[in-house]
Amino acid sequence: MPVDKQNTNRPYLGFGLGLRKEHYETVLAEKPRVDWFEIISENYMVDGGKPLDYLTRIREHYPMVMHGVSMSMGSTAPLDFDYLKQLKSLINRVEPAWFSDHLCWTGVDGINLHDLMPMPYTEEAIQHVADRISQVQDYIGRQMLVENVSSYVTYNDSQMSEWEFLREVSERADCLILLDINNIYVSAYNHNFDPLTYLTAIPSERVYQFHLAGHTHENNLIIDTHDHPIADTVFDLYDKAVQHFGRVSTMIERDDNIPPLPELLEELEQVRGIAEAHFSEPSVKDQLDKNLTLIQSNNKTNKMQPA
Ligand SMILES: [Fe+2]
Repeated sequence: MPVDKQNTNRPYLGFGLGLRKEHYETVLAEKPRVDWFEIISENYMVDGGKPLDYLTRIREHYPMVMHGVSMSMGSTAPLDFDYLKQLKSLINRVEPAWFSDHLCWTGVDGINLHDLMPMPYTEEAIQHVADRISQVQDYIGRQMLVENVSSYVTYNDSQMSEWEFLREVSERADCLILLDINNIYVSAYNHNFDPLTYLTAIPSERVYQFHLAGHTHENNLIIDTHDHPIADTVFDLYDKAVQHFGRVSTMIERDDNIPPLPELLEELEQVRGIAEAHFSEPSVKDQLDKNLTLIQSNNKTNKMQPA
């Protein structure tokens, strides 16, 4: 995997999209200019069927990362090792660059809230969730990325900011970070903090991926709906994140009101333009892609010449 040496030794995939069933056929037929895809792990944790078949065929052409929504690593319910077993088997099948889930809880006592609930930012919660992340990493046999969620409530018990909590969890569990730029923007608006304070407190060497997404204003809250194009305010924050962290693999999450693929590709080019404007040198990944194209076209030319 190419590595971007500009800031850290983090691997760099370029610019990706969430793989959605609405686009399976177009992706296979047209092989669009997407550097990589992120899949929702739970959609493919089955033994067979059409989605898995599409996944296998698309994986032949694109690097992938895996993103989960139901590990519930912040819950006090026991870790679900049946779930982890299925996750590990999908990891072995897909061979993703990495896998991730959210720094949150999704239920307790057998109740699934089907929502990503924020955690109380306490010392006790840090130790609890860091221990669980360590258990998952030991079981899977590799480091994982944890993602910051957006939130609409806070806990009276919290003893620190969200960014101090995330930083401490990542260091204690020795895990990596998926920074959702839209979620930082949403939470900063809802809880009235400076998103740049958040960004600059996160350990750069642990940040392997950015998420970008659209949101919705509802009364005096912003809701993380993933059903709109990325807002200009989030593009501005992304621009600052790239300046601060350097090249980080970035993708767009679109989960509702899903447009035709060309619309997302156009948005992805906008993202690429914002990020690459900060670098005079092409990324290692772009250089390798260019070399590969040259080799392929040379091979074609050689084949056409008589022996
Ligand atoms: Fe996200």
